[in-house]
Amino acid sequence: MITDLRAEPVDERLERHVNETAGLVEAPVPSPMLQPYEVYDQGLFDLEMVRVYGRSWLWLGDTEDLAEPGDYITGTIGYQPVIAIRQEDGSVKGFLNNCRHRASGLLFEPAGHCGKTLTCPYHNWAYRIDGRLIGIPDRARMYPDDIPAEDYGLVPIRIEVAWDKLVFGCLSRKAPPFREWIAPLAERYDLYDFSRFTRYHRELDETYPINWKAFAENSNDDYHVRFVHRRLNHLRKQMDTIVRFEGRTCSGYKPHIETDDASGGRTDLTPEQLKGHYADFIYPNLTPLPYPTQLILVRADPIAPDRTRLFSRIYGIDKTIEDQNFELDRLATTNQEDTDMVTVLMGNLRSPFYRVGPASVWEGRAAHVMKMVRADTATPLASDEFDGPVDG
Ligand code: FES
Ligand SMILES: [Fe+2]
Repeated sequence: MITDLRAEPVDERLERHVNETAGLVEAPVPSPMLQPYEVYDQGLFDLEMVRVYGRSWLWLGDTEDLAEPGDYITGTIGYQPVIAIRQEDGSVKGFLNNCRHRASGLLFEPAGHCGKTLTCPYHNWAYRIDGRLIGIPDRARMYPDDIPAEDYGLVPIRIEVAWDKLVFGCLSRKAPPFREWIAPLAERYDLYDFSRFTRYHRELDETYPINWKAFAENSNDDYHVRFVHRRLNHLRKQMDTIVRFEGRTCSGYKPHIETDDASGGRTDLTPEQLKGHYADFIYPNLTPLPYPTQLILVRADPIAPDRTRLFSRIYGIDKTIEDQNFELDRLATTNQEDTDMVTVLMGNLRSPFYRVGPASVWEGRAAHVMKMVRADTATPLASDEFDGPVDG
């Protein structure tokens, strides 16, 4: 059993590699931004899947797919497939999407209904939706000495249904509660009342040749916006952007011009909320853009060092199909503008000799995120990371 990933040579190998390629590009000011040697290393990526994703809250989906007991959604946390299922008592429970016999998955659709049981397709072990193992075909013949079936239930994970709408999951039992995870955003988000928002009729789901951290850096860069997304400049007072970052969340507030009514007819929000919008970030991979009557969520799922899936959904109040298509198309264009730019960076970050330059004030939150990723990646999970109850 690997008990201590520090024993792996990732840090040492990277350090040697970094030292060997240093010196061609002068770096007069130390930069916290993403460096070439942090982009293409498979060993580092594997560590991130454990040490960043293993201790974080991840957005999995929403309650529109979880109306009835037996309704489920599937997702991944780093490399780990997970499921969230509506229970008979109305609660939502989460589990690893792994049969306890071999590594088969149990549910294979992004969302669906599984009735009262989950049956593994490989050897048909069967589980109740609350996770208990209730069926082992040919049990007496296959396991003449029997096995403690009660110890082979589905492995539970923490689930949080936030604002009665958005479903988040976490493998770690030591990570703070979700509310604390997003503390700097929590009260502002309460005001929007996302439970009233409904999902638009389609989602965006594309995979790009970029590293997930490069997208996180771009999402938290308020400096590029008026150059890369010029078509939006006429709506915004670009130079009045307010950059905030604290704990595991970040925020770039973009005030709209006076003649643009950003309120959507709402009056029950703060003046700041009514007069512009936010590009927020929830560590490690979720970019929410909340407006008074619309919420955009863009999640960057790491697939490989140079492959990232962007999964985007939009929610809103009273939006026609035309409104929805307009916003979805606009988001697709924005995502494309960002990923095109990041793809250019990715190509050049292949060179191990290059070193990036200093972080500007408006890249402050990107620098903050990079520091958190590095701190998590350098810290092994606790020996009791998975001890303790999943609720509370
Ligand atoms: S892998 Fe599930 S029953 Fe064998
Ligand atoms: Fe952008």
